[in-house]
Amino acid sequence: MIVAKTIAEVRAQVAQWKREGFSVGLVPTMGYLHEGHASLVDKARRMCGKVVASDFVNPTQFGPNEDLEAYPRDFERDCALLEEHGCDMVFYPAVGEMYAPNAATYVEIQDEMPKQLCGKTRPIHFRGVCTVVSKLFNIVEPDYAFFGQKDAQQLAIIRRMVRDLSYGIEVVACPIVREADGLARSSRNTYLNPAERKAALCLSRAVFRGQELVGAGERDAEKLVAEMRAVIEAEPLARIDYVSAVDGETMLPVEELTDGVLAAMAVYIGKTRLIDNFIVGGLKE
Ligand code: PAF
Repeated sequence: MIVAKTIAEVRAQVAQWKREGFSVGLVPTMGYLHEGHASLVDKARRMCGKVVASDFVNPTQFGPNEDLEAYPRDFERDCALLEEHGCDMVFYPAVGEMYAPNAATYVEIQDEMPKQLCGKTRPIHFRGVCTVVSKLFNIVEPDYAFFGQKDAQQLAIIRRMVRDLSYGIEVVACPIVREADGLARSSRNTYLNPAERKAALCLSRAVFRGQELVGAGERDAEKLVAEMRAVIEAEPLARIDYVSAVDGETMLPVEELTDGVLAAMAVYIGKTRLIDNFIVGGLKE
């Protein structure tokens, strides 16, 4: 696997692959990779001639009191996982390679969707995500880009950005990967102590309860949210940031649970903020 630390190296390598007729898939990550990321690489491997992963903890998507400094990092382990899953190149830039000291240009969706759900407590988060993802798109110029359904709002926002800015890139959604006991895989799970790790299962329990209700015919969004909240509130270590049922594209609240509605939550377990969700009618990949 090629390890590229500069934009110039990535551009030269991708240009050569394109001359040779390969399609290129991009898997953007912030490193500290787990089986969820591996599933994105596997999907990219199946769909594309060459697979590029980026491994960059993007400072512009962290608010001033968030965990940028503490965000877990282990590049050697990331490389081992990427190689094992057949990644052809990892882009591992320093912050200075991605952002000039006076960088002041951002990509932002000026609409309600980045202000909903996670955007309520993380006001600059999606501006940072859109900015770095559009930079990665400009650097790698992939044919396909792969994102996990766990970050459902991020996925919807990136789809919107790709449409609004006319990127010729197909965004591919990949299902949530869970631990054997149900907890959605996340790099932030490593923050949890053993008691919190157990408590964190209230998120997936709420998701499974929600799916069960929808499966049984529940169509009232308010009732669904109340039931999911009750599951989480039964866990003393959990503090709800939000539990909402929203339109899967606009992220705006809905009253009726039709196909494509996103039931999503963010919950603090101790100091760790975790997210989980499901889509009514299932994920359209
Ligand atoms: O989902 C993530 O890990 C990040 O938000 C992304 C898409 C790599 C942008 O930094």
